[in-house]
Amino acid sequence: MIKVQSRARTTRGGEREMDPYKMIIACTNQKGGCAKTTTAVNLATSLAEGNLSRGIEPAKVLLVDLDPQGNASTSFGVDKSKLGRTVYDLLMNDLGEELPILDEYLISPEILTDSMREAWKNQHRYDKDGAKKEKKVPNYIKVENLWLLPSNIQLSGAEIELATRIGRETRLKEGLATAIHEFDYIIIDTPPSLGLLTINALAAANWVLIPVQTEYYALEGMSQLMNSIKLIQRRINPHLKLFGIALTMYQKTRLCNTVSSEVRRHFDKQVFGTMIPRIISIAEAPLEGAPVVILKKPTKRNKGSQAYWSLAKEVSDRVKKLRYKYGVNETSRLKLHRLQQIE
Ligand SMILES: Nc1ncnc2c1ncn2[C@@H]1O[C@H](COP(=O)(O)OP(=O)(O)O)[C@@H](O)[C@H]1O
Ligand SMILES: [Mg+2]
Repeated sequence: MIKVQSRARTTRGGEREMDPYKMIIACTNQKGGCAKTTTAVNLATSLAEGNLSRGIEPAKVLLVDLDPQGNASTSFGVDKSKLGRTVYDLLMNDLGEELPILDEYLISPEILTDSMREAWKNQHRYDKDGAKKEKKVPNYIKVENLWLLPSNIQLSGAEIELATRIGRETRLKEGLATAIHEFDYIIIDTPPSLGLLTINALAAANWVLIPVQTEYYALEGMSQLMNSIKLIQRRINPHLKLFGIALTMYQKTRLCNTVSSEVRRHFDKQVFGTMIPRIISIAEAPLEGAPVVILKKPTKRNKGSQAYWSLAKEVSDRVKKLRYKYGVNETSRLKLHRLQQIE
């Protein structure tokens, strides 16, 4: 049995000041269309898949789709009209005193793989001339180690319905409580607002990752977002911290360069070195029902996939550093589970 050592200090309330194994990352920015979903989906997938030659160890990942638009769910070809329980049901669960059994709400890697393969087949049903053809789904269309807590339009009622419920701000935190010890990463995709759903994400998370589109108004919403984070820290979740800022939709223009250097000047080392370029293959990936990091090999020709893999490497390096700082060995939960099964 591998011993997990931790020097993490404990606060007076008994809660750990910093649990190095708790990696709940909310991907947040109240601006719409700045690549929150794209970033959450591609990061979750590449961290789950891992890439040993790049030094990314495969990890057990849960992706939470907390946007009523359900774009993160659609990114894997999930048919939102046929969902069983969703994140909405988890938030509204008022039954009994027990914590909800999270497994009953999740889509497993096997089902996610099936839905991606089905979506790929549908997309490639016709050739360029419109003739029908059966194409074999490539073997690389699959995910392991990635679970999805899906959402659909039903969640749009949650903001209003939650308003009168007890514990309205911490319902996601409660719902995910049993998952914290199961997953290496929990990544939450949030809606483009600072409403109750986003507050739930920031209450459940201990890290915030902010995608920022390299465009003129990029910094305008940032002070409002930072204020909201401070407010959440003070009132609801003192453990919340900024994990990093990812610059997205970068193009080699003077505007993009000005904006990205301004963001770097403000936030310095908190900005990831990787800049996600504006690339059509990233935007087209949801059509094929799989994230670009699965569809395209991360080579120079596939700059979209390459960029997200390199962001995943930075994220995993930051996590390694944090864990090292708090005296935990680097063995991921996934590896621990495997080793425990062998014993
Ligand atoms: N790097 C990129 N290059 C081109 N298109 C992108 C890129 N990132 C995201 N998109 C597209 O831009 C739109 C908004 O991205 P999305 O991730 O849905 O943003 P958000 O979740 O913040 O609203 C989507 O259509 C998406 O496919
Ligand atoms: Mg989105």
